[in-house]
Amino acid sequence: MRARPIVAVTAALAACAGLLVACAPEPNPGWQPPTWPVAQVAVIAAPEPLDPAGLEGLHGQRIRDDVLGVQARWSQLPGDTASNARVVAVVRDAIAQREARTGTGYTPTVHARGAGLADRACVPGSTARPAAEIVADPALGPDGGEGTAVVCDIVTAAGAYLGQRMRTVAVQDGVVVSDSTVVLYADTSTGAVATGGELWAENAPALLWEAVVDAVRREHRSLSLAPIAPPDEASLALIGSALDQTVVAPDGTAVFTLPAGFSAPELAALGVAATSGPLTIGVPPATAVPATSAFGEALVQAASGAAGFVPPAPVAAGFEAVDCSLVPCVALTYDDGPSGYTAGLLDEAAARHGALTFFVLGQLVAGRADVVARAVAEGHLVENHTWSHPHLPALTPAQVRAQVADTTAAVAAASGAGPTVFRPPYGEYDAMVLAEAGVAAILWDVDTNDWQQLADDVLIERAVDTPRPGSIVLQHDIHEPTARTAGAVFDGLLDRGFTLVNLRQLFGGELPASGVWRSAR
Ligand code: NI
Repeated sequence: MRARPIVAVTAALAACAGLLVACAPEPNPGWQPPTWPVAQVAVIAAPEPLDPAGLEGLHGQRIRDDVLGVQARWSQLPGDTASNARVVAVVRDAIAQREARTGTGYTPTVHARGAGLADRACVPGSTARPAAEIVADPALGPDGGEGTAVVCDIVTAAGAYLGQRMRTVAVQDGVVVSDSTVVLYADTSTGAVATGGELWAENAPALLWEAVVDAVRREHRSLSLAPIAPPDEASLALIGSALDQTVVAPDGTAVFTLPAGFSAPELAALGVAATSGPLTIGVPPATAVPATSAFGEALVQAASGAAGFVPPAPVAAGFEAVDCSLVPCVALTYDDGPSGYTAGLLDEAAARHGALTFFVLGQLVAGRADVVARAVAEGHLVENHTWSHPHLPALTPAQVRAQVADTTAAVAAASGAGPTVFRPPYGEYDAMVLAEAGVAAILWDVDTNDWQQLADDVLIERAVDTPRPGSIVLQHDIHEPTARTAGAVFDGLLDRGFTLVNLRQLFGGELPASGVWRSAR
């Protein structure tokens, strides 16, 4: 039965031998090349982190305790947000781990002038550097490269969303003993927080599996369209932990890194037992969204919509929640005003996101009610320095009461906020004075003697070099040199690592109700 077709073909070939063209099939005008499915997911280059200098509203933080062996950088959003708490928890964890390893406790620490600690932002690209390099870099790591470093990168800023990657690297006896990364996202419009993993639905690893294996297969130059088998538990877990560090690129592509050693039967069929290095996987918005959580979908939409970053509403420094057991704090206090110099101090403080405290004389308040109101509105404290600066122990109890009460009333009338602590003139008090004032007396542990008309450099040196964490510094906003040097003093203190806080922040968020205080230590 088969003989006849063979004969026929042979005959046809013989007939065509002299004129091949005549035997070509008729052209088919409807012919299309076979279509190859477009990759849903691809191996891409890792997106570059953002430069925090270009992002409004972020506050860089930095601590360095060389005794314990910890240095940390992170970025905070304005105000007391849930996302700040999550970020700070990463830093606290790093400190606790180092404390457990060394038996040494953490202390907020400042450094000599010139330490450069006013530079507090994330260093772009630092989270992607080799672990040993991070800890050995004096700008990032602990003293001498031994200890723990927390570094950060801003990886996403889209719409109201901000993403920060934080990496904690610990080196003990020259060996990297731990190295962990978390990506934290904040929706600054709602306060919601999510990790990189929480951008995804629970079944995302299963939903993405085929596309991921296909991307890796193509990366190994396979054109196979062979069906991809469902993943096993270990593979799902591997994808899941890779998704935990998802970064959403500026175009909305969700990006994660498959570690070396990724395997699948379809890769084994190509002779690839396991991938040899990490692979950055990019999931475009259309493929990502069916596998995202509600938070992740909104973030991907915001990024792919290219709306640009909407900075969070600013919060004045004095209204921030500052943890002075984590960052070294100093409270600068100014007495005997308000004066014509007070507004200039407020300008200098605002330029550096610093908070101040003023101990005012009641008799001067009505004449400068505007600057008193401005100080309070901008988060500074305006407290009580008596009505007319008398020697309080020389007064009668009724006179002491009036000196304090009248001043409180004047400040309240000017600003809507009444003082809740006082500073006795000349630092003079006795039991009668304390009893009649009825509030805590706040003195100081650093006195620059700025009323002595000192040279600017002497004044700056005293105000910058003397304070320790928890210090209360006494100056006067009625002296021109004090006002003139304020900016240099603020800069010098920031450079040493201080955060400039008002007294409420120095005392942990609540002013003391009684007692005599010279510092918050
Ligand atoms: Ni005074």
